[in-house]
Amino acid sequence: MNEKNFLEELKNHWIKNDIPNITFTNANFLRDLLKIKKVKKILEIWTANGFSTINFAFELKNMWWWNITTIEFSPKSYWDALNNFKEAWVIDYINPLLWNALDIIPLLKDKYDFVFIDGMKKRSKDFLELVWNKTKIWGIIIIDDVIKFKHKMLSLYDYVEENNIKYNIIPIDEDDGIMMIIK
Ligand SMILES: C[S@@+](CC[C@H](N)C(=O)[O-])C[C@H]1O[C@@H](n2cnc3c(N)ncnc32)[C@H](O)[C@@H]1O
Repeated sequence: MNEKNFLEELKNHWIKNDIPNITFTNANFLRDLLKIKKVKKILEIWTANGFSTINFAFELKNMWWWNITTIEFSPKSYWDALNNFKEAWVIDYINPLLWNALDIIPLLKDKYDFVFIDGMKKRSKDFLELVWNKTKIWGIIIIDDVIKFKHKMLSLYDYVEENNIKYNIIPIDEDDGIMMIIK
């Protein structure tokens, strides 16, 4: 399988269906972070149809052990993602959860090297609080769309300031970017 063509096909299909996947620029940046940090264990809050998950999986797949837990609450997106994981031959390493992320995160037992938060902008601060104890020391937490949707995420900005959490805002796309926190 040609991974680049596979991802481009997925992306084109989803653009037509109006699914808000991360951009290739963002995906490539995050993939570089995974590589530099030698990440093996990822928590992704939210899957949609699996475009970002499959990008991460393609980056990790040459390691002898790795695992991605990804959470989605829409059954249609969950099943589409499952099919895409099978087609991409990465399903065995992915733990897809059909659940409301707010309810399931407190029940997760593992700790992760890398956490990616990509959805429900107004609850971003709650998600950061929920994943904090699930992230390893020196682990990376990324929150997407923090420039374009800053007005919906003011409680997140207040929370990191009030709690002296060091962060960087990185403008990756033309009109948007990520918040990166190293725990
Ligand atoms: C921006 S999309 C994720 C895109 C994906 N990370 C990518 O780039 O391919 C957000 C997804 O979050 C899901 N979602 C929103 N709130 C959720 C919640 N509380 N629990 C689980 N999934 C949720 C939506 O159904 C939607 O599919």
